[in-house]
Amino acid sequence: MKDGLEDVIACETKISRIELVNGKAILEYRGYDIRDLARKSSYEEVAYLLLYGELPKRYELQDFKIELAERRELPPQIIGLLTHLPPYTHPMVVLRTSTSYLGSLDRKIDVKTREENLEKARNLIAKFPTIIAYYHRIRTGKNVIPPTLELDHAANFLYMLSGEEPSRTAERALDMDLILHAEHELNASTFAARIAASTLADTYACIVAATGTLMGPLHGGAAQEVMKMLRKVASPRRAEEYVKKKIEKGEKIMGFGHRVYKGVIDPRAELLKRLAKKLSMEGVSRWFEVSEAIAKAAYKYKKLLPNVDFYSASVYANLGIPDDLFINIFAMGRIAGWTAHVIEQYENNRLIRPRAKYVGDKDKKYKPPTER
Ligand code: ACO
Repeated sequence: MKDGLEDVIACETKISRIELVNGKAILEYRGYDIRDLARKSSYEEVAYLLLYGELPKRYELQDFKIELAERRELPPQIIGLLTHLPPYTHPMVVLRTSTSYLGSLDRKIDVKTREENLEKARNLIAKFPTIIAYYHRIRTGKNVIPPTLELDHAANFLYMLSGEEPSRTAERALDMDLILHAEHELNASTFAARIAASTLADTYACIVAATGTLMGPLHGGAAQEVMKMLRKVASPRRAEEYVKKKIEKGEKIMGFGHRVYKGVIDPRAELLKRLAKKLSMEGVSRWFEVSEAIAKAAYKYKKLLPNVDFYSASVYANLGIPDDLFINIFAMGRIAGWTAHVIEQYENNRLIRPRAKYVGDKDKKYKPPTER
């Protein structure tokens, strides 16, 4: 057995496929290549695809978009919660806590028909951006900006965050980023969601498990750590020295390496690199140049390749998103994949309960405290 369940097949899925063929990675959502979806689709269309299994017809997409838009506003109890949480609370802790609270407000929390599961999924997809934007406004002492029905999912989020309608480039960039983060087979947070679902816990409990798992720096938390590194390195000239020292000390460089993409580039990183480059050429940010210098050095010293989190950092910085919201943006995209997996698990369920190999002491004799 390899540590960390490496290469272990833990379940069957029809939601996404990762395969390494001739030194190249294939990543498909429901059979559609991620590159095609990133270039041609929208987040709403991809969320529909993940949940329902097929691309929507034009009227189905229209209905789905309207339904998501109409569900964006938060119940007053959640707004109250966001107001009462201390402003130093990490936005991922806020998202996790709000998800749990949404569960307590749902009178059908334990109903698990397919229609009800899809309803909960649509509700969470619609409300995640509002929770994130409202909390950020509240913690920075600003009025919340209610969602608008006029804008699509990504644009509405940027509007709620800043109060200004985003440019077409910014809207498209975030939309593409959300598509690229929407789903990724049995990553740690999705596995956590499926384990919870396999006990027949409610959808909110499964998503709380997933948000908690995503937050760690070895998973979604890496993008925030990448930004810390970019700020520390600050100039392309200092990148090589920084990387060399880290490798010499045996420390991890955030945003590099992947459990599945060993020796091949993460296709999402390739697409995000192009996006980060485009944004930096149109903006004034120096982060892309610093990122490129780090990537070059990481390959030179340890043949390390960037993962999805590496170029996300400079994309988000270019969009004016604060560093500690980076993991939340990941969750905003991944909620579609998480809920699709929870539904898939419910619909073909068997309790997930592996075994552990015992390696501790055996046959010890109990002594009362006075004799120890
Ligand atoms: N920096 C430096 N060395 C690395 C890195 C890294 N980022 N990633 C892997 N390595 C090295 C390891 O030190 C190890 O080297 P060794 O054989 O000389 O000891 C070798 O590559 C294998 O690495 P493992 O840690 O065994 O790989 P594993 O599959 O367990 O870990 C992980 C994958 C957790 C993603 C790892 O690459 C890592 O910690 N990366 C940094 C954090 C990160 O970017 N996480 C986001 C991942 S993508 C996502 O979750 C969305």
